[in-house]
Amino acid sequence: MQAIVISGSRMLGGQSGQSGRAGEALAAGLESEHVDVGRIVLPECHIERCRQCNDDGWGICRHKPECIIQDGLANVVEQLKAAEVAIFVTPVYYGDLSESMKAFLDRLRRICSFEESRPGIDGKPTVGVAVAGGGGGGSVRCSMLLGQTLTQIGLDVVDLVPVRRQNLDVKCKQLRIVGRWLAGKPTS
Ligand SMILES: Cc1cc2nc3c(=O)[nH]c(=O)nc-3n(C[C@H](O)[C@H](O)[C@H](O)COP(=O)(O)O)c2cc1C
Repeated sequence: MQAIVISGSRMLGGQSGQSGRAGEALAAGLESEHVDVGRIVLPECHIERCRQCNDDGWGICRHKPECIIQDGLANVVEQLKAAEVAIFVTPVYYGDLSESMKAFLDRLRRICSFEESRPGIDGKPTVGVAVAGGGGGGSVRCSMLLGQTLTQIGLDVVDLVPVRRQNLDVKCKQLRIVGRWLAGKPTS
């Protein structure tokens, strides 16, 4: 089985950062069940935000599952489609998704509203994680926003895990278990 961890923080891998620790805990659970886990760090992927091309807010994405911007989006989408399960980890910024996660999901949502773009997306078991590493506020709100957008895209959100600085240690233990459980999910 192949899984992909898509992070809206630079801090993934090497146990660094709080989002990184949360993402790596889930990855460790998957890997303990012999799942091959890929990692994508969105702030390094050169994904622009949507340009809202026309006066009506649409672009070519109104008529076909394509975006006019030639950047890192297609590569990430390809890796997401290739994976059988997906994990989205975002740090909580102002109670919301990080900018890189928002830019990616905003554009993915537009191209995923077409039948042709559904294979590899629709029904894919997906877990969302929101890490509030400051005061700790906003993790529940952010995880709900993340879950809502992932669902609109067509992914099957099988779990949402709000994490805050104060419960990071216990949530990492939980995320490891979630990873092991996810490894046993039937794939779409
Ligand atoms: C612009 C910005 C806004 C933030 N807003 C919040 C917030 O609303 N609640 C919170 O607990 N932490 C907040 N933080 C702290 C981040 O959640 C924290 O830096 C992040 O979870 C740490 O993860 P990382 O080290 O993996 O990036 C904010 C940080 C930044 C940079």
